[in-house]
Amino acid sequence: MTQYASALKRGYVLARKSAFVLALIWGAGLSHAQAGDLDQWIQSQAPHSVQVMLANIGPSAQVPNAAPGAVVASPSHDPDYRYFWVRDAALTMDTVMSLYERSINAADQARYLQILQDYVDFSRRNQLTPNLSGGADDLGLGEPKFNIDGSAYQSPWGRPQNDGPALRAITLIRLARHYLYDGHADWVRQKLYDSVLPARTVIKADLEFVSHHWRDASFDLWEEVKGDHFYTRMVQRRALIEGASLASSLGDGAAAQWYLSQAQALEQEISRHWDAGRGYITVTLNRVGGLDYKSSGLDVAIVLAALHAAPRGGSSDSFFTVTDDRVLATAEKISDAFHEVFPINARDRDWQNQQMGPGIGRYPEDRYSGTTSSQQGNPWFLATNALAELDYRCARAFEAQGRIAITPANVALFRRLKTFSRMTVLAGETIQSLDPRFYVLIRGLREEGDGYLRRSRFHADSSGAMSEQFNRDTGYMQSASELTWSHASVITAAWARGK
Ligand code: NOJ
Ligand code: NOJ
Repeated sequence: MTQYASALKRGYVLARKSAFVLALIWGAGLSHAQAGDLDQWIQSQAPHSVQVMLANIGPSAQVPNAAPGAVVASPSHDPDYRYFWVRDAALTMDTVMSLYERSINAADQARYLQILQDYVDFSRRNQLTPNLSGGADDLGLGEPKFNIDGSAYQSPWGRPQNDGPALRAITLIRLARHYLYDGHADWVRQKLYDSVLPARTVIKADLEFVSHHWRDASFDLWEEVKGDHFYTRMVQRRALIEGASLASSLGDGAAAQWYLSQAQALEQEISRHWDAGRGYITVTLNRVGGLDYKSSGLDVAIVLAALHAAPRGGSSDSFFTVTDDRVLATAEKISDAFHEVFPINARDRDWQNQQMGPGIGRYPEDRYSGTTSSQQGNPWFLATNALAELDYRCARAFEAQGRIAITPANVALFRRLKTFSRMTVLAGETIQSLDPRFYVLIRGLREEGDGYLRRSRFHADSSGAMSEQFNRDTGYMQSASELTWSHASVITAAWARGK
């Protein structure tokens, strides 16, 4: 066995051992009446995905040479994904943060906290490392990726990518809140946020960068198009809002005001992405460089934006959230488009004759196969799982609100829900929770979410392995194996479904 294979094997055995313990965390509540098959899969896949995700974070035998706190996008050599992407890492660490919050035993909590602290230190090193995105004043905080030992990546790339610092801030602000709550304001001021300028803490540096640079064109999350992006702007706004609240709890009132004023200015720009004529949110405005064949403007990045920029900690902010009719209309259009684009979607029943949703890609015109951008794009696990998570979160939010407003933008989605076939809804009406249609719609959303997860299950390996993509014609997995973000997306979708 090669060293790599044996490390993989070890990781796998470890994963199986901890699967039982982790299954306890998921515990009860995964009980959807007709979804027993899927429950079983989630109960083994989600804990397995936790293990794979953690194995991709340094220090780990799976990814030798990864510094502590460095999230490796995938251990794959071909294509070579053994890098630290600021975006992938922030999303992964957001999931680790949730694992920490959900964990019930002290040993797990200590382990997760250590990972998060390592990530804080690694991130601060990134911020201080001169790189090819670096301007004199901002040290290149928009640099998208680093080597896994923390040194700068010196080759050409789609840079800068300004969603990175925003995502990192969103995740670390959660960590800061946790420390404040536990009475460790000293640690927060030392490592995460203090008001001193030029910034000497990681969150402060990110918030300064975001608040002063959100107007700059940058590359999108797919590293291809330079311009102004819905996704980037949404996470920037979220970082500024959460940042303002952290700043004010630490007595930095003037900064809080400044961040909020920039968040408001961003809102105006973000709203322009809604294309009323086409009935969906368009992904990029003001393209100034990069690829130019994304003609539809349809992109799963809109769904990811609603998920990743969701309000944290009980805020009542309703700006382009998961229940927003424009977000839902866009999700519907994305789903339709991919239904047509990928031949494998013609099959919509799994082995148990259960309904599957379409496999979802990044955007319909995609040409990235994992190695080149001159082929045809494929469905991605993280995109398919995002549609599932949207459905679950949306169902939950509607339930909490106790009503669903039907609008011209979202009516098509509701009419199509399978559970709804013998009922009707009209744009303009609001369905209250006492209306029999209310729970039919909620159930329909959940059922649709399950359809997407069945799609992921169908194309993933029965051992739990999950790459970046699955082939549009054959359905077989391809591109980066064990993509960290694919696994994180299973975990967050399972949480959104469960409870
Ligand atoms: C590599 C990037 O990671 C991927 O997102 C992109 O599609 C290709 N380069 C082509 O630019
Ligand atoms: C390509 C994806 O397009 C990009 O979003 C991601 O950051 C990298 N791969 C690394 O996973």
